[in-house]
Amino acid sequence: MPPFVAARYGPAWRYEPGPEILLHTMRVAVVFDTPYSGWDHRDHERQMDLEVAAWKADEPEMEYQIAHALRECGHEVRLHGVRDDLEFLVSDLAEWKPDLVFNGAEAFRGDESLEYLLPALLEAEGYRYTGAPPLALQVTRNKAISKKVLAYFGIQVPGFVSYRLREQVAQPPDLSFPLIVKPLQADASAGIAQASVVQDVSSLAERVSFIHERFGQGAIAEEFVDGRELYVSIVGNDDSLEILPITELVFDKRIRPEERIATQFAKWDESYRQRKGIRNVFARPLAKAVRERIEETCRMAYRALWLRDYARLDLRVTDDGTVWVLEANANPFISYGHDMANAAAKAGMEYCAFIQRIVDAAIQRYEHA
Ligand SMILES: Nc1ncnc2c1ncn2[C@@H]1O[C@H](COP(=O)(O)OP(=O)(O)O)[C@@H](O)[C@H]1O
Ligand SMILES: [Mg+2]
Repeated sequence: MPPFVAARYGPAWRYEPGPEILLHTMRVAVVFDTPYSGWDHRDHERQMDLEVAAWKADEPEMEYQIAHALRECGHEVRLHGVRDDLEFLVSDLAEWKPDLVFNGAEAFRGDESLEYLLPALLEAEGYRYTGAPPLALQVTRNKAISKKVLAYFGIQVPGFVSYRLREQVAQPPDLSFPLIVKPLQADASAGIAQASVVQDVSSLAERVSFIHERFGQGAIAEEFVDGRELYVSIVGNDDSLEILPITELVFDKRIRPEERIATQFAKWDESYRQRKGIRNVFARPLAKAVRERIEETCRMAYRALWLRDYARLDLRVTDDGTVWVLEANANPFISYGHDMANAAAKAGMEYCAFIQRIVDAAIQRYEHA
């Protein structure tokens, strides 16, 4: 294939000439979950154009940002949104024959626990695709199983107990309070509030039933790790694995909430964040030994959980320098201007280069297989 020269991506709504990237053009299909049924690639293209044009006012859906960046990188791109019609996806891909599929699916039929389904289908149909395999998506979605895997490799994880749907808290768990109670298989801080941190067994029982009723899934209660909260973004595989600049969740000392945790409000509600002085910043200084421990832990966890191409790990570091893994995000949010894309930008990859880096990681993996 002839090399293609693309301009680097600038801020979201305009392009700035920058250092040139040399790359090979490919046919890249972007597969994602969508609420729109019966839409084909032309409908999504129209929607993408509308959302990209209005970027200043409202950020486009992640799949449209990815597709737009791939196009800016010079690739031929086709959008495949799936609501519930798997047959349409299979026939559409078979007709178009992509060189690579960029997996942007976060759910199936609105159900996040079925996030693994589209990659499983791509696997079954023999396509090359970006990101984690179904195994990693399923293991990391379950906050109890993933902790068991990490503990096997000697990685520090909080002590925990899990309660299946409708299972009662019969006796005090053999753990030290405070505990934090979370849905077993949710993400984006769903079900995480100040009331998630419990000090005794009766509030534990109450919160576990609340999770069961509200989320219709099991609950996990973990020992609360009081420490700095760090998010580590990773791209690549094996020898090309790169740990991007670390992000930290910080709380203004004077106005912070009682429990310094990433509740749903703390993560997503801009006015609450401002009121409580909550910010995501590049990590404040870390001792060299701690930084090395973080990097080593992340490399081990990435491998232990079969993560691929890109992922983000949520950690806490206690005052004694111990690194605790809270969870792994096998399919992290990669929209422009959010933690992972910001970390990539800090490492010198503007958005288009970041998306291309994920593509390169996937292609290299298949070529070395
Ligand atoms: N064991 C723990 N100790 C302290 N804080 C925790 C613990 N588990 C979760 N948290 C807090 O809750 C947030 C969300 O938990 P996490 O397991 O990352 O779930 P999600 O998948 O919703 O992001 C974390 O970012 C952290 O602030
Ligand atoms: Mg998290």
